[in-house]
Amino acid sequence: METLYLKYRPKKFGDLIWQDHVKKLFKNAILKGEVSHSYLFSGPRGTGKTSTARILAKSLNCSNLVEGYEPCNECDSCKSIDSGKSMDVVEMDAASNRGIDEIRAIRDRVGYLPIESKYKIYIIDEVHMLTKEAFNALLKTLEEPPKHTIFVLATTEMQKVPETVVSRCQVVEFRRVPSEIIKAHLQEICKMEGMNCESQALEHIARKSSGGVRDAIGLLEEIARFSDGNVTLNDTLFVLGEVPVETIEEYVSSIVNGNVESLLRLIESVEEHGIDPMNFAQETLEFVTSKLPDAAIAKVGKFVSDLIQRLKYEERQFDVFKVLSVFEALNYGNNFIPKKSEQKVSEVNKSEGISHVKTDVDRVLDWYAENGDASIFACLALSTLRDFGDRILVISNASIQHEFLKERTKIIENDFKRITSRDVKLVSAYSAVPIESIEPEMRNSVMKTLSIFGGKLLPEGGEEIV
Ligand SMILES: Nc1ncnc2c1ncn2[C@@H]1O[C@H](COP(=O)(O)OP(=O)(O)OP(=O)(O)O)[C@@H](O)[C@H]1O
Ligand SMILES: [Mg+2]
Ligand SMILES: [Zn+2]
Repeated sequence: METLYLKYRPKKFGDLIWQDHVKKLFKNAILKGEVSHSYLFSGPRGTGKTSTARILAKSLNCSNLVEGYEPCNECDSCKSIDSGKSMDVVEMDAASNRGIDEIRAIRDRVGYLPIESKYKIYIIDEVHMLTKEAFNALLKTLEEPPKHTIFVLATTEMQKVPETVVSRCQVVEFRRVPSEIIKAHLQEICKMEGMNCESQALEHIARKSSGGVRDAIGLLEEIARFSDGNVTLNDTLFVLGEVPVETIEEYVSSIVNGNVESLLRLIESVEEHGIDPMNFAQETLEFVTSKLPDAAIAKVGKFVSDLIQRLKYEERQFDVFKVLSVFEALNYGNNFIPKKSEQKVSEVNKSEGISHVKTDVDRVLDWYAENGDASIFACLALSTLRDFGDRILVISNASIQHEFLKERTKIIENDFKRITSRDVKLVSAYSAVPIESIEPEMRNSVMKTLSIFGGKLLPEGGEEIV
């Protein structure tokens, strides 16, 4: 498929949006036959400079002008210019041809008559990139341009074009296009392309493109590709790597309300959309700062700024982000995990068929949930637990949980003893593969081995268990 912004390149002055003064200027000049020999188009990227230069070239050579100034876009000349094949429209990009040779070549050829048309048009893009020597050579040409030659120089950085060049050209300023105008233009394009789009999405795209039409259309296309032609505000934000405010609000409120379930759901969707956790944390911090002085939210602010420090040095950023967020939510309330842990522990023990074990592990978990350290509780509850009599095996899926528990092995062993009067050794292990996803026949031997060595092991099929 043709790139959208090329497909919608203005083909006549009337197609240009916003640059009314430019349209008027060329309309009058062409109608009166008073076209200058050198123009300097200045203005931000993607605002219509190259498009206008080509329209001008077409108008000057069109054999069938519409209303006396617009190109017909149908005659041979118009078509050959549109397809970039015309011998009489020479486009040069000064960003890649900075040197004097190219300009000299132009100077040497400038005296020849156009081959197929009335005018020969030289379009030099990014003219501020020319070297000093090239500028001087260009200047000579601009001083005495032949009648049949028109120069259109274009630049996004007017201040870098030497005054001597500027003074020999008629300067035409292209302006940033206001976002409402861009939005309306995008709406038109969506309509013609049969794309559904949310008005807010287009608004956001328009605002993001800071007045450049090409950037806006390019962004629209990227988002449409990402979302199968349905352009929503959410998709727009995700493509831009921005986090929707509602998502941040939900994150903060899930933490403040200790709602781990909704928090986990939300974090999952953040992960699915490929949002960088660091970026997410930073946006959250900004959001929280804007909500001060709410005391509960301020506490989240403290947490998020610690989190940002922590994430800087982490490889597995997402795990850390997830686990620490859950801990934080648990500090605010603990009405979620107990149910989940009961379920988890009883499942494990059903398969084990040992009834008194369930009670011990469960009692310890319950104690942590009610009186103890919510973080320890969360880590244990999110891990797979096995009671082997003299040892308790704890397998975490996230390395951070594993590290966290390993550091607290002694504390947990003591608590276990105090609550159950049993002397156990806590063996914590980390498996990148969730234990449930290991073949059931393999599971027992994998776990036995882990409980004995607490070390590395490769189950059949290959993925490393650490
Ligand atoms: N004023 C405008 N009206 C309608 N479409 C525009 C306008 N300006 C830019 N566009 C869109 O952006 C695309 C690129 O525009 P163009 O090449 O004319 O920009 P430019 O000003 O030459 O940019 P650059 O400075 O990057 O060369 C066009 O194909 C068109 O889709
Ligand atoms: Mg251009
Ligand atoms: Zn024509």
